[in-house]
Amino acid sequence: MVSRYHEVYDSWKRDPEAFWAEAANAIDWHSPAERVFDPAGGVYGRWFPGATCNTCHNAVDRHVENGRAEQAALIYDSPITGAKKTYTYAQMKTELEALAAVLRDCGVEKGDRVIIYMPMVPEAVFAMLACARIGAIHSVVFGGFAARELATRIDDSTPKLIVSASCGIEPGRVVAYKPLLDGAIQMARHKVETCVVLQREQLECELVEGRDTDYASAVDEAKRAGRKVPCVPVAATDPLYVLYTSGTTGQPKGVVRDNGGHMVMLAWSMWNEFGVKPGEVFWAASDVGWVVGHSYIVYAPLLHGCTTILFEGKPVGTPDAGTFWRVISEHGVVALFTAPTAFRAIKGQDSKGEFVGRYDLSKFRTLFLAGERADPETIKWAENQLKVPVIDHWWQTETGAPISQNPIGLGQLPVKYGSPAVPMPGYDMHVLDDAGHEVPRGTLGNVVVSLPLPPGALPTLWNADQRFRDAYLEEFPGYYKTADAGYVDEDGYLFIMARTDDIINVAGHRLSTGGMEEVLAEHPDVAECAVIGIADAMKGQVPCGFVVLNAGVSRDPAELEKEVVALVRDRIGPVAAFKTVVPVKRLPKTRSGKILRGTMQKIADHEDWKMPATIDDPAILEEITEALKARGFG
Ligand code: COA
Ligand code: AMP
Repeated sequence: MVSRYHEVYDSWKRDPEAFWAEAANAIDWHSPAERVFDPAGGVYGRWFPGATCNTCHNAVDRHVENGRAEQAALIYDSPITGAKKTYTYAQMKTELEALAAVLRDCGVEKGDRVIIYMPMVPEAVFAMLACARIGAIHSVVFGGFAARELATRIDDSTPKLIVSASCGIEPGRVVAYKPLLDGAIQMARHKVETCVVLQREQLECELVEGRDTDYASAVDEAKRAGRKVPCVPVAATDPLYVLYTSGTTGQPKGVVRDNGGHMVMLAWSMWNEFGVKPGEVFWAASDVGWVVGHSYIVYAPLLHGCTTILFEGKPVGTPDAGTFWRVISEHGVVALFTAPTAFRAIKGQDSKGEFVGRYDLSKFRTLFLAGERADPETIKWAENQLKVPVIDHWWQTETGAPISQNPIGLGQLPVKYGSPAVPMPGYDMHVLDDAGHEVPRGTLGNVVVSLPLPPGALPTLWNADQRFRDAYLEEFPGYYKTADAGYVDEDGYLFIMARTDDIINVAGHRLSTGGMEEVLAEHPDVAECAVIGIADAMKGQVPCGFVVLNAGVSRDPAELEKEVVALVRDRIGPVAAFKTVVPVKRLPKTRSGKILRGTMQKIADHEDWKMPATIDDPAILEEITEALKARGFG
């Protein structure tokens, strides 16, 4: 099949408003937009101003009304607990009506924020959609974050209520959520007065009298009473959710997603980009706490009338490296979306792909990888094992959908290993040098996107228009700065090589080294510190902390490491995967005092490095090399 990509991309470029107006026909609107795009609205313009709509109606109710009532909407498959459960669209609607009634009874109204701090259980999805139903703004916090991270998000989003659960389950341990929830509520300045808590049988918790409502009994009561809460029309430009993502400091950025543009973009992506039809089974093996989970576990597949899989497990160890193939064959999955790290983990345990042959994968058509750079070796291994196209695509929490991809529905283009292919409609990409000049093809530079961003991309940061401008729009006027470095080749394929800020990517999770440095600096013996990401065969990168101790302090390195690791786990959470501390006498700096993190990373990764001309004292880099060797990185 000849790809329609160029024709479709050109049609978007010729007339973006006509393009998105056409795409908007996939959505039910309560009232139409006054115009497709208002360049004077918001920070850089707003999509579909004046329109009213409801995301829950589009994701659930309209499918019940239009013949999908008995189709599976959500399949919960939890190899970690042994549980499996299917919800049809009609059953899902019943769950949402009841939970929406509970939220209402707790005083949640349109525009109120609700934090969702939950493991991968169906109730997490219900909580998101029930918020959407009543026009409340959800903010999901990933379960691997510690109490302090949760407290930061409570203070920034000032929620009326938190929906949580008694525990999450990780291989080999049950994670008690309740102490984290209670700790965060206590730490936060904003006082949360109501929680709805799901009791899980693996570890029940005590409910706080007067504050906590038991999820199951409240929902059951609402069902018994036949409570029906209709979908509340909201403005297309009203926020659907706020999702916090790592910034360059410990203060995360609250990425705002609107209702209208988000639906239009996601609905468009399901066929054109992912090649999936309504009624088919789509699986994003991520977590609802990440943007991939928001967009491709919950909203996009449901908006498109697909069946989505909610998988509570890991690619390996639950129980083995064949879990993914079992899920694909058992539920008839046509497309899987996950992070390359998951495939590196599987390959690490089953390099010959012996598990693959044990399952019927005949319905499976495409594997999509994103969240971090897909290394060619991993792509080739997956292609060889699965005999389907393996598609790398690049996006960010901020965009909510792919920026560049090899578009399966439009017709696959030739694959270039290491490249997430070509820009999607909505994205006019440029590569600029630091002074803002376009660089020649093939030259590495700052990857930026011409404003306005397309529907679905963030219109701003929560309560922080100025931070949004400063972080994304200021440096290259007229463009959105992705903070990724890359280049475009002679065929227009993009290659994303690294971040230009201090964000690192650990097992597909986006983490701020600046945030970790803030925690290391809290240790009483640490005078100065630097955290860098170093290469890791499975996780892509892992953090490594260099610490300079206070004058006169001498510590056993192993003891010190234990304390610092525990501190990061306590402050940020296990997801930081912070395990390594390297004590050093001094940190390498430029003469103006900037720590040479980039050079330290090259040394740790055994890459070629040049002595920076501005270095204060070249001998320090020798000391760093020796310290790394002593720690086993030499
Ligand atoms: N709640 C509590 N703790 C969590 C958690 C959660 N939801 N998710 C992860 N953690 C913990 C892990 O248990 C681990 O703890 P440990 O240090 O005690 O072992 C720590 O956080 C680090 O987790 P992770 O980096 O995920 O490492 P892992 O060794 O547990 O698993 C992979 C590695 C590759 C199997 C896993 O990261 C994975 O499946 N990743 C691919 C999919 C993905 O999630 N992508 C993200 C967006 S697309
Ligand atoms: P997140 O906001 O967590 O989705 O992380 C976004 C960042 O992950 C991007 O800015 C990139 O640095 C990286 N990333 C995501 N997908 C890819 C990809 N396909 N190739 C290279 N880097 C990627």
